[in-house]
Amino acid sequence: MKKPVPPLALRLRVSGLADETDFGSSGWQSAADFRRALAGVARAIPQFPRILEWGCGCGRILMQLPVDLEQQELHGCDIDGEAIAWLQANYPRWHTFQNGGLPPLPYADGSIDLILNHSVLTHLDEAYQDAWLDELGRILTPDGVLVLTVHGPFAYQRWLSTLQPDDPTTARLIGESREALATKGIWFLDDDAWAADFPKYYQSTFHTPWYIFEHWTRYFDILSYIPRGSLAHQDMILLRHKKTG
Ligand SMILES: C[S@@+](CC[C@H](N)C(=O)[O-])C[C@H]1O[C@@H](n2cnc3c(N)ncnc32)[C@H](O)[C@@H]1O
Repeated sequence: MKKPVPPLALRLRVSGLADETDFGSSGWQSAADFRRALAGVARAIPQFPRILEWGCGCGRILMQLPVDLEQQELHGCDIDGEAIAWLQANYPRWHTFQNGGLPPLPYADGSIDLILNHSVLTHLDEAYQDAWLDELGRILTPDGVLVLTVHGPFAYQRWLSTLQPDDPTTARLIGESREALATKGIWFLDDDAWAADFPKYYQSTFHTPWYIFEHWTRYFDILSYIPRGSLAHQDMILLRHKKTG
C-alpha cells in the first residue's frame, strides 16, 4: 500500500519540493545519508531502540527510515503544529508531538538512543543552538548518537553565488558574513526570508568546521564530520557524550 504523502503546502514548507516523487526521493536520499554516516562509525539504525527526529516537519525523512516498529520506537517533534497534526492522523504508530521553540522536550534524562536531524540548526542563532545542544545531550542515552547538520563552507559558497555583489547593500552583507565567519566561525543572517512560514527566530545560519570542533566539543565528542553529508549540501556531524578518563 502507498504511504500517505503530506499535502503540497506541508511539502513545500520543509523542502520546497512540489512534486510527490521528488519529495519521496529526497526523503529516501536523507535516510540513505544517515545510514551511510552511521555505518561510518560502525552503527546502524536497527540497533537503536528509541529514535527521535528533532524538527521532523511533515515526516519527509521519518517515512523513509528502516525502522521495525515491532522492535523500535520512532519519535518525531517539530514546532509546526499543522505538520504534526497531519503526522498524528496519518502515521498514528509514531510518537509525534509539537514542541516549543526552546527546550525542554518531554523526555527523561538519557532516554533516546539516536537523535537525527536535517536542517534545524541551519536556522537558529547561537543562543538557541546552545540551548538545544544542551537539551539534546540531556535526553541522549549514555551510548547514544546525535546527528546534526549545518550550512558549512559549501552551502555558504552556494549562497554567495546567488548574490549580486555590485549592489552596495549586498556587498556590505557579504563583507559582514566573511568577517563573522573568519573571526567567530558562525554567522546568523537575520533577513526575514522565512517570515511567511516560521517564527521570527527562524533565520539562516552558516558555520565553519573549526567552530564546530571548538564550540560543540564543550558538549560532545565528535565522532565524524562529513562535508556535504546531508543531501550533498549541508555538512553532517555525528556526536556522542564526552568520554571522561
Ligand atoms: C528546513 S525544515 C526541515 C524539516 C525536516 N527535518 C526535513 O528535512 O524534512 C526545518 C524544520 O525545523 C523546524 N523547527 C524550527 N525550529 C524548531 C525547534 N526549535 N524545534 C524543533 N523544530 C524546529 C521547522 O518547523 C521545520 O519543520
